[in-house]
Order: sequence, then C-alpha cells, then structure tokens
Amino acid sequence: FTAPYPPYDPTDRSGFSYETVVKRWPVIITSIIDQLHRDCHDLSIESQKPGADKAMLEAKIAEGKGIIETISKLKYQMGRDYPLEHIPEDGEADVSSYNEELHRLASRQVNTWFTAPWLFAECYLYRLLRSFFAVTVSWNSYDPFLPQKMSTFSQSGMSIRQIATSMHELEAEKSVLGDEKLGVLFREMIQMCLWGNATDLSLLTHMSPQDIEHLQSVGKEAQAARQQFILRDDQDQVWRHLSSLKDGRVDFVLDNSGFELFTDFVFADFLVTYTPYVSKVYFHPKLIPWFVSDVTPPDFGQTLKSLLDISFLAPSSGTGKDSSVPGSDHLKPMVMRWKNYVDRGAFSLSVPLDTPLGGNGTAAEFWTSPWPYWNMETLAPELFKSLKESDLVIFKGDLNYRKLTGDVQWPAWTQFESAIGPLASAFPILSLRTSKADVVVGVDKETADRLDKSGEKWRVNGRYALISFLGPHR
Ligand code: F6P
Ligand code: MG
Repeated sequence: FTAPYPPYDPTDRSGFSYETVVKRWPVIITSIIDQLHRDCHDLSIESQKPGADKAMLEAKIAEGKGIIETISKLKYQMGRDYPLEHIPEDGEADVSSYNEELHRLASRQVNTWFTAPWLFAECYLYRLLRSFFAVTVSWNSYDPFLPQKMSTFSQSGMSIRQIATSMHELEAEKSVLGDEKLGVLFREMIQMCLWGNATDLSLLTHMSPQDIEHLQSVGKEAQAARQQFILRDDQDQVWRHLSSLKDGRVDFVLDNSGFELFTDFVFADFLVTYTPYVSKVYFHPKLIPWFVSDVTPPDFGQTLKSLLDISFLAPSSGTGKDSSVPGSDHLKPMVMRWKNYVDRGAFSLSVPLDTPLGGNGTAAEFWTSPWPYWNMETLAPELFKSLKESDLVIFKGDLNYRKLTGDVQWPAWTQFESAIGPLASAFPILSLRTSKADVVVGVDKETADRLDKSGEKWRVNGRYALISFLGPHR
C-alpha cells in the first residue's frame, strides 16, 4: 500500500516535526545524559563503601561514561544536520531494516536529521539509543526513562484514587446494572481511557504536580467540558459493537506507562468485570524504552506492584498523608482483582511477564520498527494472524495513530478507513488519541478549516482528541 501523500518531515518549518528536531529531541537526549551522570555519580559513591565490588562498579562507570560520550556526539550531530548513522549490529531487532531504509533515504538525499521523514527518524532515534545500551555488559537492561516514568506516576495519586472510588461504587451496583446504565458507564470509561493519553512524558517536559492533577481530572464535569474537544467521536458505534459480543477478546496496543496504563487497566476491568461482552484482554507492550514513556514488560509488572505499595503514590497536592486520603482503601481490592486476572489469564501481556528489555525474537518487535501498520500483514504475519482473532484492537495514543495513518499529509477530512489502508478490513479497530502530531483524519472539512484559520495549534497541542472506530463486516 502506498499513500498518495508524502510523509511529514522537518523541511516544513511550520510543522511539529521541525519543532521536534530543534527543541524536543535535544531536551529528551539531554535528560538521558543527565540521568546517566547522576547514576554514575551514585555508583562511584557506592564503590567507596567498605565491601563494595569496586572492580565491577568501576567497569560499569567506565561503560556509563562511554554511553554519555556517544549520546553527546549524537546530540551534536543532530543539531548540525548530520546524516543519520547506521545502527550498530547489537543482536537486537530490525537493525538491517532500519539501515536499509537509511540507504534508500541517502540515495534520495533525505537522510539527515532535518530532512528525513519524521516518523522514521523518530523511531530510529529510540532504536539507536537502545543500541548504545544493548551492546554494553552492565547497562543492557537499563531504562534511561524509568525514573521519569516512576516519578510522574507517583504524582498521579489524586486521579487514581478518584477512579478507584468510582469503581468501588460500581461494585455495589453490579447486580442492578441494566443495559442503559452500562452504556452510560461505558462512555465515562472510554473517555477516561482516552484522556489518560494526555499524560505523555515526551511532550510534557515541564509539569508541576498541580498541572498533572488538572490534566488527569476525571470527574463528570471535566469530561463534559472536554466533550467539545473530541473532533471525531465514534463512541456509540464502539458500544454497539462491544455490546453485540459474548465473552469476546479485546487487545490494547499500549502507549504510555503510569497513569495512562492505569486507565487502560480500568477500562479493561470495566469490560471484563461489569459486562458479559468481554472475558479476555491482551496488552501489547514495547520491548525497548520507547518514546520516553511507553510501557515495557518490566513497567507492566511494576505498575501493579506500585499501585499496591501504599507509600508509592504521593499525597495529592494540598492534602494530608496518603492513607487518610479518600480512595486509598478502594485501590487495593481493585488492583488485587487485576492481579488475579493476570494470574489466571483473563488479562495477559502479549509476551512473558519477565521479558527483559531488548528484543525477544517475537512478533512484538514489530511495534518498535519504523513501519506504518498497513504493512503488518507482510512484515509481522504472526502478529497479524493473532490480532485477526480479536474482537476489538484498541490502539492507544498519538504514535500509534501516526503509524496507523502512516504519518503522511492526508487532508484532515480523509476517511479514517482510507487512511489506514489495508488494515481497514483486517479486524475491528478503535484508536483513542489525544492529538500531538500534525496528521489528522476523519474530521469534517468545515471544522478543520475553522481550526486551521483560528491560529491555534490544534493538531499538536494535546487539547483535541479523536475516537476513531472501524467495525467488522465492511
Ligand atoms: O514526538 C513525537 C510524538 O509522536 C508526538 O506526536 C507525541 O507527542 C509523542 O511523540 C508520543 O505521544 P504518545 O505517547 O501519545 O504516543
Ligand atoms: Mg507514548
């Protein structure tokens, strides 16, 4: 499948791609360098302690400094529009497909940081960073974004407790939930899961705890206020499809760890516990640190542990100690239920729970390749076959949306069905995306023109969202 439009790239200085190369990537790269400096510093203090394995720690520090140097060089080259270098053979996934594409881009003279297609260059960046760690002895399972992910998650306590309380109240009504009430609850759940995507660390680099609370506010009023920002709203169609199922299977192609993953769990829990329609949920993570905040297999297990650790969630701003905050008591039974679902397979990670960082030779590697999803059947036939068994595949977040649509310059009023190419006839698809990149489809021309004229950066500022659904039998 070839899209009839070119991909977004930073040669257009008014696009978000340009801003990303100039501003956002350097910030992200610098944050890795800073983190490594802190970690090497801590290791050096540890090595001074009596009984420390000095030789091992010193070797690790030396390797750490090597990585810092390599990443600093990358930052230098990026700022000066150097060509993208080959990914070293690190024994992990997709080295040759990335490098072959670099070759093709070089022959068209669009292989530098300020000329390469945005989607490709951004995936390449995270895969290249992974290679710097993968080839080492001591940093092989290191996730440079982990401290950021954990700290933002621990500041999400207020919304997490609010949601836990709502779920607890639902428990009391469980036996009397009629179809109509379920439909109303479904709308709340899907919107919570949608706006959960707003907590994205690669975009929101300077947020205070108050900002995070505001962003995650989940009450009915907050939802109603945001309704006008949902530019494409297929909620009713999704519900019609889901409520036609019996013991169905739903897949989540995950996006971010922390609060967003929590909302994915809640949505999945709602479907499995409170409706007869779904009994099995698969979660698909990324196998390497990806776009800063995406869920890896270690994040998945850690999330459940963190939620059960009473000291993990920081008290909400302006309130007292954690355990006295309303909602704390409601969290544990809910998360224990999820744990139980994981243990008995009602919730499954698509790879073994103890999968370490790095490829594992499975179909899951497709998620960290640079290719649009319309290539899935050819490039990841096993994955494609497995998803064909699903009753609904939910693609979370912005990057998944970019990959669904190929990140090309579709007019905004292009049908979602046309923009995702052959995937449209593959399996029922739901994309829940808050908009943080230029590509948008499925919005009527009048709305798109009005927003374009308004001067607001509506495609990329994260205020707008799209709920795009394609059901079966087309
Ligand atoms: O940096 C590019 C980008 O894809 C943005 O479009 C978006 O802000 C972010 O990375 C990823 O967002 P998400 O976590 O929703 O996929
Ligand atoms: Mg993400």
